[in-house]
Amino acid sequence: MNLVLLGAPGAGKGTQAQKLVADYGVAHISTGDLLRAAVKAQSELGKQAKAYMDEGKLVPDQLVIDLVKERLQADDAKKGFILDGFPRNTAQAVTLDAELESMGIKLDGALLVDVAFPVIIERLSSRRTCRSCGYTAPAGTETCPRCGGEMYQRDDDKPETIAKRLDTYKAQTAPLIEYYGGKGILIKVDGDRPVEDVYVDVKKELGL
Ligand code: AP5
Repeated sequence: MNLVLLGAPGAGKGTQAQKLVADYGVAHISTGDLLRAAVKAQSELGKQAKAYMDEGKLVPDQLVIDLVKERLQADDAKKGFILDGFPRNTAQAVTLDAELESMGIKLDGALLVDVAFPVIIERLSSRRTCRSCGYTAPAGTETCPRCGGEMYQRDDDKPETIAKRLDTYKAQTAPLIEYYGGKGILIKVDGDRPVEDVYVDVKKELGL
């Protein structure tokens, strides 16, 4: 399974990816998680990325593309991968196509988790994320159910940044729906239902 996940911030991409990874053992390549790890480590990349993330803007393409290229070469990605949060604009999608072609890998699909913006704002405002492993859950969850780590609110899950992230999504990422539709590999699921119901549809659409 080599998959791209599409959808607005908070649509549930990470949630569905976590389930696919647990059930099918593919690599979860989340550019958001990779960037947050770089920020936490205060690496040069993290220092450059932080200002963009705090503003709800996209981090410059080349920084993210280099991260993804490296991650695609890792051993665990040989069994298959889920790209979560990448590509985020047409330039990234074109680069990904070229990179996969050079590696002799075909994308099986681009899965769009479709959720209306008002639902998304509600979800992101109440999201908590594990500081250690990145697991996400609604507010009220104080200890990570997966690793026991501390749950916190991401800086970019504050209302003013959520609005900016949605603007960025509309302007730069939503056009990818047409991009992958044109390639005949777009798959769409209604993400505004309970997590397990969405997952049943995801598996059905992927033929799993
Ligand atoms: P990133 O971390 O990728 O954030 P995002 O796309 O904004 O996605 P989220 O993680 O916010 O949402 P999600 O769809 O995974 O939702 P989740 O499953 O957690 O990016 C952060 C920043 O990094 C960007 O703004 C940018 O600056 C930078 N960046 C990242 N990638 C980049 C790239 N390629 N290029 C440039 N810059 C990049 O669910 C949300 C909440 O809803 C959770 O609490 C969850 O429990 C709940 N939930 C999920 N599903 C359901 C459901 N069905 N019903 C009810 N609740 C649900």
